[in-house]
Amino acid sequence: MTITATTAATGLRLRKLGQHIGARIEGLDLSGPLDPGTVAAIRGALSEHKALVFADAGIATDAQQEAFAARFGPLTTAHPTVTFHEGAPKTVLPVDSEESVANQWHTDVTFVLNPPQVSTLRAVVLPPYGGETLIANTAAAYRSLPSELQRLADTLWAEHTNASDYIKPRTVQGEKEQQYQQAFVSQTFRTVHPVVRVHPLTGEKGLFIGAFAQRLRLLGVSAYESADLLRTFQAHITRPEYVVRVSWDPGQVVVFDNRITQHYAIDNYDRAPRKLNRITVAGDIPTAVDGQRSYALEGDSSHYSQIVELG
Ligand code: SIN
Repeated sequence: MTITATTAATGLRLRKLGQHIGARIEGLDLSGPLDPGTVAAIRGALSEHKALVFADAGIATDAQQEAFAARFGPLTTAHPTVTFHEGAPKTVLPVDSEESVANQWHTDVTFVLNPPQVSTLRAVVLPPYGGETLIANTAAAYRSLPSELQRLADTLWAEHTNASDYIKPRTVQGEKEQQYQQAFVSQTFRTVHPVVRVHPLTGEKGLFIGAFAQRLRLLGVSAYESADLLRTFQAHITRPEYVVRVSWDPGQVVVFDNRITQHYAIDNYDRAPRKLNRITVAGDIPTAVDGQRSYALEGDSSHYSQIVELG
C-alpha cells in the first residue's frame, strides 16, 4: 500500500488522509504560475480525493488565492446575499468567527440553481486550538447505502433555501453577527435539487442535501416525514468513515469539490478570532440520475455566479 506518492506522472507529494476522503499535498507553492501538468494533476487529485489540504501553500494575498482558484474555472462573487464586506475583493467571502459559525453540515450555497463546483479556503487568522473543518464524501456515503435506499434516494428531490435555520440567532449577538444574519436572508432563494446528483466529471452519484435542504418535494409525505427521511440520509453522509477532520495551520489552503462533499466548521475554540477567506468557483446546474436538472423556484442568482457546464 502506498502512503506517500510522488510520481513522475503527477509530481505531487501527496499523502492520503483516509480511505474515502482527503489528501495532503506538501511542497507545492501555489502563489505563482503553475504549469498545465501540475494544474491537471491537482484537478485529478481533487476528483479522486474530494478534499485537498495544501500545507505551506505560499499564498499570502487574496489576489494569489483568486489566481489559484481560477485554475478550476470562472469565479463566483463572494456570496449571493452576504456582500457587505467593504474593501474585500468581490470574490472573497471572509468566513469570520465574529460574524458566523458554520457549525452545521452543508454544501456551499445549495439554495441557488448552480452552486459552486469548488470551494477554496485560506487560513488568515487561526484560534490557538480547535476550529477544525470536517469534510464528508457524499459519493462514498451513497455507494454504501443498501441498494433499496439508493433506488429510493435516486427518485427524490428536495427544496433548498437560505431562509432556513442555517442561520440560528444566539441569545447574545454582536453587531457584526446581526449584520451577517440580516444580509444572509435579505433575499430569499429557493431551488429544487435532486437528492442524488451525478458528478459531471466523474459520473459518481452523491447525496446532495445538507443544511439548506428543507424538505422533500414528495406528494403525500408530511413535513415531519420528509424531515425524517432527510435526517436518515444526512446521518449516513456524516458517518465518521466518510469524513476527514482538517486541522488548520498558518499558510494552509484547503480545496474541496463542492459537488460531492459536505462540510462543518467545529465550534470548539471559545470564539477566539478565526478567519478563513473563501473563494468559490462557478458551477453547473445539478443533474439527477435520470438526467433531469435542478430548477429555481425563487430568486435569480445570475449576479452571483455564471453557469459553467462540466467544470
Ligand atoms: C464554510 O462553511 O464555507 C467554511 C468552513 C469553515 O469555516 O471551516
